[in-house]
Amino acid sequence: MSGPDRDRDERFVPALAYRWLTPLYDPLIRLTTRERAFKAGLLEQASVEPRMDVLDLGCGTGTLAIWTKQRVPEARVAGVDGDPEMLEWAESKAERAGVELTLSSGMSFELPHADASFDRVLSSLFFHHLIRADKERTLAEVRRVLRPGGELHIADWARPADPLMSVLSRSIMLLDGREQTEDNLRGRLPDLIAAAGFGEVEQGRAYRTIYGTLALLRARRPATGSAA
Ligand SMILES: C[S@@+](CC[C@H](N)C(=O)[O-])C[C@H]1O[C@@H](n2cnc3c(N)ncnc32)[C@H](O)[C@@H]1O
Repeated sequence: MSGPDRDRDERFVPALAYRWLTPLYDPLIRLTTRERAFKAGLLEQASVEPRMDVLDLGCGTGTLAIWTKQRVPEARVAGVDGDPEMLEWAESKAERAGVELTLSSGMSFELPHADASFDRVLSSLFFHHLIRADKERTLAEVRRVLRPGGELHIADWARPADPLMSVLSRSIMLLDGREQTEDNLRGRLPDLIAAAGFGEVEQGRAYRTIYGTLALLRARRPATGSAA
């Protein structure tokens, strides 16, 4: 194969850029990204409560969705991803973990969910896969599917916190593409979220990793105002 799979399929970038790497995804993420710490941090930040409807956007192999359900069993947890192969992994992992998830195949910029159907949208290691226009379309979709007052919680690559993080973050740019990762690595995600009509946009905890700085973000769909 001569280049990333995105050259063949412009709809989405496979989780590790090359499809043949997909089976290695979980062990690699577990070993290299401080996954336990940052996903636990994201769940703590999101304060999911019983009977809430939660969407894991770009759920991949479903780790965050499964941990959400295990942490708050009375919440209804859904996952959506553009890659049917990742969803198959998610489905069998959820079955092995004995948790019930509603998994759907779909693109983030045309979500297969009704307006105002979620209290929380969570997203991990996902937004840096999108070019600017798709980030904007996706944020509009997230706003649409969130209930007024509902919250978006993101964990993703962010502006490097120091020169070492800056050097390390080049690996993410090389793997997932400059156009996709630039907004993240230049710290522009909060402004894009605010421009999409969210309020209370704030950065939470940041984590040093071997791929650079990973940060948590939060934002709220205003409780009043236009529905769309
Ligand atoms: C790096 S993986 C992250 C998976 C998971 N959230 C995690 O934290 O391990 C990115 C995921 O986003 C999916 N993806 C990329 N672009 C997408 C899009 N526009 N719509 C839906 N899924 C997309 C990929 O298929 C992949 O599963």
